[in-house]
Amino acid sequence: MIARLSTATHPSHASERASLLTRRIYDVAAPFYTISARLFHWHAHTAALAAASVADGSRVLELATGSGEMFIRLLEVNRRGQTVGVDLSPKMAAHTQDLARRKFPRASSHCYAADARDLPFAEGAFDSVICCYLFELLPPEHVEDTLLELRRVLAPGGRLTITLVSETKQAFNTAYKLGGRILPCFWGRQVDERLVRMLPHCGFELTKDSYVTQIFYVSHVVSAARTTPRRFASNGMPHAHASRFI
Ligand SMILES: C[S@@+](CC[C@H](N)C(=O)[O-])C[C@H]1O[C@@H](n2cnc3c(N)ncnc32)[C@H](O)[C@@H]1O
Repeated sequence: MIARLSTATHPSHASERASLLTRRIYDVAAPFYTISARLFHWHAHTAALAAASVADGSRVLELATGSGEMFIRLLEVNRRGQTVGVDLSPKMAAHTQDLARRKFPRASSHCYAADARDLPFAEGAFDSVICCYLFELLPPEHVEDTLLELRRVLAPGGRLTITLVSETKQAFNTAYKLGGRILPCFWGRQVDERLVRMLPHCGFELTKDSYVTQIFYVSHVVSAARTTPRRFASNGMPHAHASRFI
């Protein structure tokens, strides 16, 4: 399964510095991040799991596993399949890996430290890709290429399920923006509306979505099928200025 053929762009110094900081912050947060995930993400994870409708025996990839709450739930439904996780933070990845070994010692699973922008997996390696609260943390110029990278590792007919920080509630947006100014590499920025607009140009068709509120935290759970990206012409060459659609 592991072979490299990547569409990712080469990161600039500024965005690399930001990603390094994100990695360090999440390394520090790893031992207690489960509190935040359970308080704010749990119900959205439930909706994402339902939207992904993973069949037992599938090849599943979870990106940005964090401390592994969703990963464990994926292992529960995919006991006979292969479940792979990645997180930029080596401590988060190790935490998830330990949790998985403890809870499902016989499962075929592994969690790596890797960057979602440049995945160490072959084309079409997965039937299902799941990703909760990653895109907020990516440098804005890498959102589109990361979506293309997810499409690359999805098999034809595969499904992408993304959970995003919703932009539907004004008061929540104001609070989130404030958090993003104080700790940008931990909170990131809301990209929900922009990302949903990008899906067709990156080879995805939105099939289902729902909004989930837990305490005051609003999440948007988006499910999309892999199709042909509109940003590519029929000869396979990228259209110039595809991003003008975004
Ligand atoms: C907000 S947490 C979400 C964790 C988990 N998905 C959840 O739902 O609770 C974001 C996670 O994304 C990871 N992350 C940030 N940038 C990443 C990247 N470029 N590639 C992979 N993981 C990344 C962080 O290390 C962190 O664990």
